[in-house]
Amino acid sequence: MDVEDIRKDFPLVDEYIYFDNACLTLKPYQVIDAVDEYYHKFPVCAGRSSHSLSNLLTRKIISARESVRSLLNAEDPSEIVFTKNTTESINLVARGMGFEKGDVVISTDKEHNSNLAPWLLLKGDKGIDYRQVPSLPDGTFDLEAFEEMMNKDVKMVSMVHTSNLDGVTLPSKEIGKIVHDHDAYFMLDAAQSVPHRPIDVNELNVDFLAFSVHKMLGPTGVGVLYGRRELMEELGPLVVGGGSVKDTSYEEVTLHSSPNKFEGGLQNYAGLCGVKAAIDYLLDIGLDEIEKHEIELNKRATEALKDRITILGPEDPGLRSGIFNFNLNELGCHETALLLEENKILTRGGMQCVHSWYNKRGLEGGTRVSFYLYNTVEEVDIMVDTMESLLG
Ligand SMILES: Cc1ncc(COP(=O)(O)O)c(C=O)c1O
Repeated sequence: MDVEDIRKDFPLVDEYIYFDNACLTLKPYQVIDAVDEYYHKFPVCAGRSSHSLSNLLTRKIISARESVRSLLNAEDPSEIVFTKNTTESINLVARGMGFEKGDVVISTDKEHNSNLAPWLLLKGDKGIDYRQVPSLPDGTFDLEAFEEMMNKDVKMVSMVHTSNLDGVTLPSKEIGKIVHDHDAYFMLDAAQSVPHRPIDVNELNVDFLAFSVHKMLGPTGVGVLYGRRELMEELGPLVVGGGSVKDTSYEEVTLHSSPNKFEGGLQNYAGLCGVKAAIDYLLDIGLDEIEKHEIELNKRATEALKDRITILGPEDPGLRSGIFNFNLNELGCHETALLLEENKILTRGGMQCVHSWYNKRGLEGGTRVSFYLYNTVEEVDIMVDTMESLLG
């Protein structure tokens, strides 16, 4: 993997040290061009009109869906639904699975608000019983505690695959087996895993998988929900209208099957046109290589600073993927982020949408550095030097 070569494809990398990749990644020219092509060559709607421009776009969307299917090793394109983001994908499942009073839903204690708020609202609206598995002290998953929490009332286990807080990844295969032994459903919030390592939905043993294409070089405002084919028949849509409807009378509506059933209204076609370009780019570099590179950068930052700062999560950077979230102790997390920005180092100070975890510990937040394929050892060294000068 030639990082210097990769950097030539990205605007802004020479102007900033961009370490906020867990939020949104930068976009390569290949993706920008694919989006631009939509506006220049076929700025119309897909799948409804039958004119030639619409047909061109429809073929682009079919190939975007096929490219996601293949990335995840899913069985069929009907298992791939395009949404706005991870948040919408999770909400679709939370609202569409017909949860009832007393159904138990289990998450971890480190969920992004996008996989916490939907369940908390369902607790209020429908009376579901929502529980969290406490993490071990180093932030890793407590499989034994989880297994003890499982019982016949559990309907859904919905967990963050790789945490945006500390980078810890769950043992999905083992969790999936326990979930399915109890006839429950298993959903992973894969917002921080699909962009960073090879993912196979069969190996992960999941029923649903949610992620955002804008966190993996793709256009902003494109997300994905993967769902096993038979479950997509059961799942109700979040919004209905044009595109998702097969027929209506004044009394009744007949919906299409998946994926159209879930994609009501005109879509983010420009964004969808960039999906394949983003995936092709990542596969061309190799997701294994990308993961290795991020961990190398994380190791370098950890080795240099671990004795002087508090790093969230396990000591071993190999268990924290590309997430390096820390507190300088003397300085607040927001102030630290602002001081780093004086050297053009862009990070994320605050609670990173995991308010519940920080609030429980009485913490203001952390300063999160998150790496991606275009970040360099030299950028890490500049950050280390800057932080050493802040520490005095
Ligand atoms: C683990 C995790 N889940 C969910 C989300 C929400 O993603 P989106 O804002 O794209 O819906 C994020 C975004 O940072 C995340 O890191």
